[in-house]
Amino acid sequence: MKYGYFDDQNREYVITQPDTPLPWINYLGSEAYFGLISNTAGGYSFYRDARLRRITRYRYNNVPYDFGGRYLYIRDNASQEFWSPSWQPTQRKLERYSCRHGMGYTIIGSDYQGIEATTRYFVPLDENLEIWQFTITNHRQRAAELSVFSAIEFCLWDALDDSSNFQRNFSIGEVEIEDGVIYHKTEYRERRDHFSYFACSEKVAGFDTARDAFLGPYRGWDQPAAVESGSSRNSVAHGWAPVGSHHIRISLDPGESRQVLFVLGYQENPPEEKFDPPDSLVVNKKRAKQTIARYLAPANADAAFERLRLHWNELLGVFEVSTPDVHTNRMVNIWNAYQCMATFNMSRSASFYESGIGRGLGFRDSNQDLLGFVHMVPSRARQRILDLAATQLPTGGAYHQYQPLTKRGNNDIGSGFNDDPHWLILGVSAYLKETGDWTILDELLPYDNRPGSEEPLYQHLERSFRYTIGRLGPHGLPLIGRADWNDCLNLNCFSDTPGQSFQTTTNKDGKVAESVFIAALFVLAGRELAQIACRRGLAAEASHYLSEVAKMETTILKHGWDGRWFLRAYDDFGRKVGSEENAEGKIFVETQGLCPLAGIGLTDGLAVQALESVRRLLATEHGIVLQQPAYSKYYLELGEISSYPPGYKENAGIFCHNNPWVIIAETRLGNGDAAHDYYSRINPSAREKISEVHRCEPYVYAQMIAGRDAPSHGEAKNSWLTGTAAWNYHAVTQWILGIRTDYDGLRIEPVIPKSWPGFRACRKFRGVCYEIEVQRAEEPGNLVSLEVDGRAIEGNLIPLPPAGVKTVTVKATLR
Ligand code: GLC
Ligand code: GLC
Repeated sequence: MKYGYFDDQNREYVITQPDTPLPWINYLGSEAYFGLISNTAGGYSFYRDARLRRITRYRYNNVPYDFGGRYLYIRDNASQEFWSPSWQPTQRKLERYSCRHGMGYTIIGSDYQGIEATTRYFVPLDENLEIWQFTITNHRQRAAELSVFSAIEFCLWDALDDSSNFQRNFSIGEVEIEDGVIYHKTEYRERRDHFSYFACSEKVAGFDTARDAFLGPYRGWDQPAAVESGSSRNSVAHGWAPVGSHHIRISLDPGESRQVLFVLGYQENPPEEKFDPPDSLVVNKKRAKQTIARYLAPANADAAFERLRLHWNELLGVFEVSTPDVHTNRMVNIWNAYQCMATFNMSRSASFYESGIGRGLGFRDSNQDLLGFVHMVPSRARQRILDLAATQLPTGGAYHQYQPLTKRGNNDIGSGFNDDPHWLILGVSAYLKETGDWTILDELLPYDNRPGSEEPLYQHLERSFRYTIGRLGPHGLPLIGRADWNDCLNLNCFSDTPGQSFQTTTNKDGKVAESVFIAALFVLAGRELAQIACRRGLAAEASHYLSEVAKMETTILKHGWDGRWFLRAYDDFGRKVGSEENAEGKIFVETQGLCPLAGIGLTDGLAVQALESVRRLLATEHGIVLQQPAYSKYYLELGEISSYPPGYKENAGIFCHNNPWVIIAETRLGNGDAAHDYYSRINPSAREKISEVHRCEPYVYAQMIAGRDAPSHGEAKNSWLTGTAAWNYHAVTQWILGIRTDYDGLRIEPVIPKSWPGFRACRKFRGVCYEIEVQRAEEPGNLVSLEVDGRAIEGNLIPLPPAGVKTVTVKATLR
């Protein structure tokens, strides 16, 4: 069953009924000012840091969980009836409803009793504000006398405090109202130099800023007393809960339309210009007023929207493909790339599954996110790499997370996730392959942000690599530390205290438990580092890396192979994890994917066996589960993984993030059918038709789909902010379609389904536009022959064209 449809032409998903199984959301904003918006206009906004600069309020554990948002009410002043054009919060049964989630904007519209109302929500590029462009049309035969009320609830900035410290919060709220503009200035009198504002393009008939006055006692947002009675209270909030609501009256003749603009924004003032007059406590509104005036003009709002549209044309124009599979096209050309922008911006901080008050930017996560993002805005990827590397510890290890506002490592979570440092090498290598910008390696960056400790980025990578060499266990495999990629395989934790964090509690000295996963990651990253060293003319270093890599590979083959698949780890007792010997958790997916991906087992038949075991034991129609059999009870020595009921999360859920590793592994063995089949099983667009099972948005990946041991097998959870986005984008574009960035040029090596006659793609790479056509000869194989601008070339790497060449035509034949 579907709840809408894809409009690929407009790059939108159109939701046609408001009560989707779960809120289906979108993100507004792309650099500093962000908002989450659901299909019923729920959600909140913040500036840069979802915890520390929350602009509008979000109520945790609410029902439904997108409740509270950017709400409007329309009141028919003759009949006194009122409704919300986004369905929530009044839930009046609308005659037509649609929500179009697009690239950086959402349009929600509906018809009710001959009144059509549509709101376009977006954040202009380079501005710290959001615009609600509201258009209302009278389709009745007679004139309509209407009232429109806007409604938002301000957050008192620090979202964690806001939802807990009520003894203080109920006394600090402050606002100012001037010319119908509502200014929220809580704490501005003391240490904050920022405030927010909510403005409206029409002359207001009234306003409210005190929630109690607007709603009335014992009422909810579904029937505010002010709306019901048709007039605002002109309330001025002192403490309690500041809100922003405008009341405007609109008379519409039959057929007449009116546009009203609302602007909600964030403004900072230089500390010495906070107040106007300077010796008062009145907010200096000079800057804010200029911005407000600009965007309350419809022509400027339209122009800003047009800029946003062109911006996305450009971003998505970097890679465009046309294959025989609509789901592949749609995800590659539109939604997967779009989701990669969201994960780049948010890491795992703010969604309806990530609270925005918990996690900062993950070191491991943010580096992996680059794989799906670097081609769109390389300069921002570059900055992210520099920020991440500057938090690296002198040991080569990493803080697991850092705070976006301060760019400092997060002490609460700390470090000791022993896979972390290698992702930096992979992030940098993806950047180098995309851009050829070798200067990044010379950037001087500190360790732990400590002035005086600066070294070139290249040295940071070297320390990442050495980190593992200095931390090997009894079998010569890397020690796992708190956890590796699998945050929930906590082999040193041994927690028997409720509420303890599995990630930060360590009860063992950690000298025994080893990770085969980190070993494979070390091989993968080490090979890249060797290539990087080579191109820097550091031949001795390169061969040192390669000899360490070779040693590790031998160790994996000796101690990391279980007979029919790769082992996962050794626990604190030196016992195998992910082995035939185990009663539960006999086989884990991570190493089956990552080992072949890193080139391990490709020539000796091990990869073939490992992937055969995946097919037999882990693959389901909804994707590949993380391990089998699921842990049926809690194992003290394994940690959080066994705390989840079977089939969920890391305990045998379909953890979509690692499915693309298997997909890539399949392509490395030349199995295009298997690769694309696995790709399709978790492709959200391909799952749209079972939306009642999948339940999350059909246009973005979710972190998890319930595994076969769960009663709700096939149900997705935790959509949007997941490494699944970057890895699937990477897997499909670089390995299935095989248009692969490399240090010295673009490589073309597709491994596509046998049934595909070919495909076309356009890839912009280092300033050149590659027009690529791939065609199958009769044979079903993957052997590529290339014609570049009409001339046959050897191999599959297209050398960089001479300067000045803007377009290169590539014809690839597969046989
Ligand atoms: C979450 C984390 C990620 C981790 C994964 C598996 O997605 O953000 O860092 O690798 O879970 O545990
Ligand atoms: C929990 C989640 C895991 C996440 C970790 C870090 O363990 O299950 O996915 O990565 O928390 O916060």
